[in-house]
Amino acid sequence: MSDPIPVLTIDGPSGSGKGTISRLVAQRLGWHYLDSGALYRAVGVAAGWADLDLDDAGALVRCTFDTDIGFRESAEGDLRVLVNGHDATDELRTETAGAAASAIAAIPEVRAALKDRQRAFRRAPGLVADGRDMGTVIFPDAPFKVFLTASAAERADRRYKQLKDKGVSVTMDGLLREILARDARDASRTVAPLRPAEGAVHIDTTGLGIDAVVERVLAVVAP
Ligand code: DC
Repeated sequence: MSDPIPVLTIDGPSGSGKGTISRLVAQRLGWHYLDSGALYRAVGVAAGWADLDLDDAGALVRCTFDTDIGFRESAEGDLRVLVNGHDATDELRTETAGAAASAIAAIPEVRAALKDRQRAFRRAPGLVADGRDMGTVIFPDAPFKVFLTASAAERADRRYKQLKDKGVSVTMDGLLREILARDARDASRTVAPLRPAEGAVHIDTTGLGIDAVVERVLAVVAP
């Protein structure tokens, strides 16, 4: 029997640098990349377009099944996300979409409905899977697992700089409160709570530059 296609799972809280690091590591390895948060965000955006109530679990589950989510690379090489055929990449990154995604992600039927879509990303020569439950639930048999963290203050600071660059006005205090609230919600939900997978290599990115983190993650795959 041939070896299973390798997967490197990179889990951790928002702002730990997962997205940037995972994309760079996938590029370096020449592997595919799964941004699992984008799937939850896409359903959040679709729910917003349909004006659904975030407390109506039944409607959100139906919306998950009905939403077509596609990924494609633009001419400039960045990843675009299509929701029901519309390019929703920028809308996906808003705080509103993030908050909707976090609420939606707590519904077990939604998580179950997205399972196979995530596993379909496992294609040769390999996959870097970025999320919260990649190593625990979606790819428990992955040979390489990383758990990225950073202090809440550093995560709020990174987010603050990103938003300021985009011209969005926010306060550090407000951001820190939001980050702590989302951490608590993601870690305390009964289904697939955020926690390190057994055997995951923990990397604290506080005070580390992107290149240093990329090298540490690559060392997990090829020590
Ligand atoms: O990583 P992100 O910020 O794009 O994720 C958006 C939300 O989706 C976040 O609140 C947690 C949730 N999520 C999840 O529950 N499981 C995943 N594998 C990825 C994201």
